[in-house]
Amino acid sequence: MLGAEDPESFFATAPPLRDADADAVRTKLQEFIARNSIISAGGVDRRPIVCVTSGGTTVPLEQRCIRYIDNFSSGHRGAASTEYILKAGYAVIFLHRRGSCQPYCRFLPDDSFLKFLDVNEESKVQVAESHQTTVKESIWHYCKAMEGGSLLKLQFTTIFEYLQLLRMVATSVSTVGQRGMFYLAAAVSDFYVPWDSMAKHKIQSAGGPLEMRLSQVPKMLSVLRDQWAPLAFCVSFKLETNSDILVQKANMALNKYKMNIVVANLLATYKDQVIIVTNGARNTVRTRNSDDDLEEQIIKLLAQKHSKYIC
Ligand code: PMT
Repeated sequence: MLGAEDPESFFATAPPLRDADADAVRTKLQEFIARNSIISAGGVDRRPIVCVTSGGTTVPLEQRCIRYIDNFSSGHRGAASTEYILKAGYAVIFLHRRGSCQPYCRFLPDDSFLKFLDVNEESKVQVAESHQTTVKESIWHYCKAMEGGSLLKLQFTTIFEYLQLLRMVATSVSTVGQRGMFYLAAAVSDFYVPWDSMAKHKIQSAGGPLEMRLSQVPKMLSVLRDQWAPLAFCVSFKLETNSDILVQKANMALNKYKMNIVVANLLATYKDQVIIVTNGARNTVRTRNSDDDLEEQIIKLLAQKHSKYIC
């Protein structure tokens, strides 16, 4: 009998996406892939296609959900990487957590967007002079990506939505073979409450302290590699808090899940340093100053390795 830790039973018991939503996503994916697979007269116009996953998944504790388990991920890594991947000429499926950091919006203030605005002499609201350049550039890049058809955004909140969407994206991207890439920067829950054993209504506190058993979320990296998109170039991330085990765990993921690259990072330093682990090599990438985007260097390296893989 299959347990909650098995991929098949995870999908069989997960609350399905609404039919209309699933159909709409499927259509968007087909159109997106077709648009970015057109061969020009010169024969070289097809874009490589990347699925970037970004932000953290939630684990609901109740079917009519009031409480859930979350994690710290802001989606900054995925959003910044998406900007550099688009710049490198790829088409990007940005599979992200609702409300998380978005490409070209990283420079908007966290605190209040009102800081970006002014009221002029005619009482009209406008972007403050101090932020004109940043906002103009962001709008320009964003519109170019959206209008040029090279950016598709898909949203998730729960682990159930995330894995169902990832499966849909992966099986669609598999049609482009080695031209496809997965850049799995999302912080994915390792433990969850299976839908069929989850409380339907709000868990009551009158019953005293809460004891709950969490099942393991099946690792989908091997399913992605073996079944969903066997030819795609796969980049997974490894996050740890203990530097003594980081590289060892990254190597393990590389071999066990047959990833092409594992980007290893530590919670304490992940904004300034990552180790890029490939078969037989290890590259530490660091920011050089406070204005530097680590993601720019990461993407440069990955694009080189992916283009060799395609040849
Ligand atoms: O979003 P930010 O705030 O900018 O933070 C960026 C980041 C630190 C979240 C990012 O750099 C990062 O490390 N993301 C991966 C976090 C994570 O889930 O690490 P992990 O070691 O728990 O998982 C390793 C890999 O297994 C991940 O690529 C994940 O997609 C995959 N996984 C995890 C659980 C699961 N059940 N199935 C999976 O396939």
